[in-house]
Amino acid sequence: MELNTIERDDLGAAAEDLVVPPAATRKVFVKTYGCQMNVYDSQRMTDALAIDGYAATDAIGEADLVLLNTCHIREKAAEKVYSELGRVRELKAERAKAGREMLVGVAGCVAQAEGAEIIRRSPAVDLVIGPQTYHRLPAVLAKARSGEKIVETDYAVEDKFEHLPQPKRAELIRRGVTAFLTVQEGCDKFCTFCVVPYTRGSEVSRPVAQIVAEAERLADAGVREVTLLGQNVNAWHGRGEDSEEWGLGRLLFRLAEIPGLARLRYTTSHPRDMDDELIAAHRDLPALMPYLHLPVQSGSDRILRAMNRRHMAKDYLTLIDRIRAARNDIALSGDFIVGFPGETEADFEATMQLVEDVNYASAFSFKYSPRPGTPGAEMNDQVPEAVKDERLQRLQALLLKQQQHFGASLVGRTIDTLVEKPGRQAGQKVGRSPWLQPVIVDEKAGEIGDIIQVRITKTGYNSLFAELA
Ligand code: 5AD
Ligand code: SF4
Repeated sequence: MELNTIERDDLGAAAEDLVVPPAATRKVFVKTYGCQMNVYDSQRMTDALAIDGYAATDAIGEADLVLLNTCHIREKAAEKVYSELGRVRELKAERAKAGREMLVGVAGCVAQAEGAEIIRRSPAVDLVIGPQTYHRLPAVLAKARSGEKIVETDYAVEDKFEHLPQPKRAELIRRGVTAFLTVQEGCDKFCTFCVVPYTRGSEVSRPVAQIVAEAERLADAGVREVTLLGQNVNAWHGRGEDSEEWGLGRLLFRLAEIPGLARLRYTTSHPRDMDDELIAAHRDLPALMPYLHLPVQSGSDRILRAMNRRHMAKDYLTLIDRIRAARNDIALSGDFIVGFPGETEADFEATMQLVEDVNYASAFSFKYSPRPGTPGAEMNDQVPEAVKDERLQRLQALLLKQQQHFGASLVGRTIDTLVEKPGRQAGQKVGRSPWLQPVIVDEKAGEIGDIIQVRITKTGYNSLFAELA
């Protein structure tokens, strides 16, 4: 496929004057914004770059390549990227003075949404690459190194996952005992507030064999807990090993058979795609952790309709009842938007009521932020900022109360904890509860990767303290 190119501007020294380090001694600094899928993508890009001779660095000043993996979901995300690019531009100029090259790349959803505009506004940028073309990064970089400015935001016809290199086992081991695995990307739901269908494209599921192979590699490297990722992860579907059409529930059963993988999670789901088999997986699959992030966004039917969520508040509550009937210790998490266009005080009260009815263990709540190109941004009755602020405060106070109540309800109980990493304080290790809370234990309580039984002694702000049971 053709690459879009823009003429290189005259920033710093000419490319040929710069010392280009030989392969394997180049360094890349990756900064990740936004969701877990961006974290996963940054890893996959780092893996692709490793083959190209780039070692990852945490020191931006020594980077031959700076890559910003950006998010476009809310607020002035694009503006944040531009101000970061202002700082990077200065570093690049400094390095150029010292005769060293620093290529600057913008990846992620801002790259997809803004494309060539990024290079127009920020001439220090050498390449812009959208999420569907990360496998082309080495080729794009080769061009950028020879002085071309590249914008690569087409939706690739080939499967990027087929072409992205697998990380080395040592690298997987270094990354720890929990891992993300993207199984599905993009979204066809078109909620009227959301930019995802435009930045990540339409819904695509990765094939079963690819997912199983990747999960096996992770398990082989000592990973104990895998979180399956997708913008609309429970819409995942594919042809199974038995030639039947599988949904996410069936896939979870298959992944649970992989030796070593003790825990499975998935995020983020749409209420419309919680099918019977997935709910049955919550009932019958011990490896599937009793924690479900199921965004509802609003408790008002009028607003849900305007958001094009394709379900009413009652549907969501009935679904929660069914899920709780299948697995009674399941903890629920959600996403909420306050101040969607047209939201009245009564609509907001309906959201507060839904939160009361569900009783969340954790949740994320946001002020509505008009995204360019989405229907919501064009709606007339935008809600004033001050009203959004006030509603967000009230909602967050309620959600925080529920979260603390959930944490407190665990004190005195004995639970499984996956020991994950050394703690911030000497003598401690941090584990993870079935409900995603960090669990602080004595470092001698277990080795990293062990699943230990602990008794919860007290709660912190968002964490639990525990002793070996
Ligand atoms: N404004 C505010 N919040 C948004 N989200 C998505 N788009 C917007 C927007 N335009 C929130 C939703 C979604 C989460 C990932 O981000 O709650 O579930
Ligand atoms: Fe966005 Fe999720 Fe709605 Fe898709 S289902 S449009 S990703 S909020």
